[in-house]
Amino acid sequence: MDNLWSFWSLFVIIMTLGFMVAVWWLIEAAKKVNAQQPANELLDHEFDGIREYNNPLPKWWLWMFYGTLVFGFGYFIFFPLGGWQGVLNWTSVGQLEKEQQAHEQRFMDTFDTYARLSVEELLNDSTALAIGQRIYAQNCALCHNNAGTGGYGFPNLTNNDWLYGGSPEQIVQTLTHGRQGVMPGFSSQLGEIGIAQVSNYVLTLSGHEARNPDQVAEGQVLYQAVCAACHGDEGKGNQALGAPNLTNDIWLYANPEVSLYDNIRVTLRHGRMGVMPAFDELLGAGRINLVAAYVYNLRQEDPQ
Ligand code: HEC
Ligand code: HEC
Repeated sequence: MDNLWSFWSLFVIIMTLGFMVAVWWLIEAAKKVNAQQPANELLDHEFDGIREYNNPLPKWWLWMFYGTLVFGFGYFIFFPLGGWQGVLNWTSVGQLEKEQQAHEQRFMDTFDTYARLSVEELLNDSTALAIGQRIYAQNCALCHNNAGTGGYGFPNLTNNDWLYGGSPEQIVQTLTHGRQGVMPGFSSQLGEIGIAQVSNYVLTLSGHEARNPDQVAEGQVLYQAVCAACHGDEGKGNQALGAPNLTNDIWLYANPEVSLYDNIRVTLRHGRMGVMPAFDELLGAGRINLVAAYVYNLRQEDPQ
């Protein structure tokens, strides 16, 4: 209701002020004593058995009433009603924004300090790690799990095995810009037989027995031709691409209900597209440093 002169604006204002005048009039009318009769005497009318004396209204009660009227009118002058803005120009949105700004300012000062420190420096600061843990719980636990141990498609952050590198700089990079793993599907290129062969070879890379040992040699040839470009000649992975190390028996996509061999074949058939969202806008540099320190520290607690 921005327009003072719009119907509803006038309606609300006239109703409000009108009722104030009406209440004032009511008090004035009720205040009068009946001059024809002496005070302290019962008047002759009766309402359902209730009778009244011919006494003036108590002073304190009257003044309280006048007080509320003055208060109400003052409130109307200062605060908005209908299209009337009030002389203070107060709005609920404005107040919220002001409070949010003050809040942000208070925390930004703290986070600015942390943004200027390195992750290594924060590692010795138990307060910083505690704040990092809270940021983690609110933003990351959903996917990486409370303990940081990940889940199907969500990397374990505690095991010192990294898709994109585990140095403080690389973790900050991951959090700031996000990451997108791109592993293409190979159904049409390799067919089911090719996929079986290369899967058998991949099993042996991490010390597992091949499901079908006869296929390992051909699988290795295929691997070198098709997969080595991303996963490396020896299967050690490539952190620039986020291509996992296939030799360490740590699996990002391992549904426990089926065998490892089947998991690998599903990956090869359909490809994988893990997405880690970017947090620069949501968290800002200070909070990212704090949560990076917390994550980096997780790994230190559990070196493998
Ligand atoms: C929506 C789910 C999701 C959320 C929320 C999320 N992540 Fe991730 N994160 C992923 C996925 C998926 C990957 C793996 C990306 C890939 O497969 O290439 C990943 C990867 C990472 C990596 C790289 C791991 C490695 O091995 O290199 C780190 C570090 C990480 N996340 C930390 C965090 C932190 C800290 C937060 C909270 C600020 C967070 N993530 C929030 C899904 C998420
Ligand atoms: C273009 C680069 C690229 C090529 C080529 C590629 N991969 Fe991948 N591979 C990736 C990436 C990146 C991931 C991680 C996907 C993700 O994070 O969601 C991955 C994931 C995997 C995984 C899942 C690992 C796990 O921990 O669960 C397996 C297994 C795998 N690749 C095997 C292969 C094999 C075998 C080939 C060859 C037939 C191959 N890849 C070809 C990039 C590649």
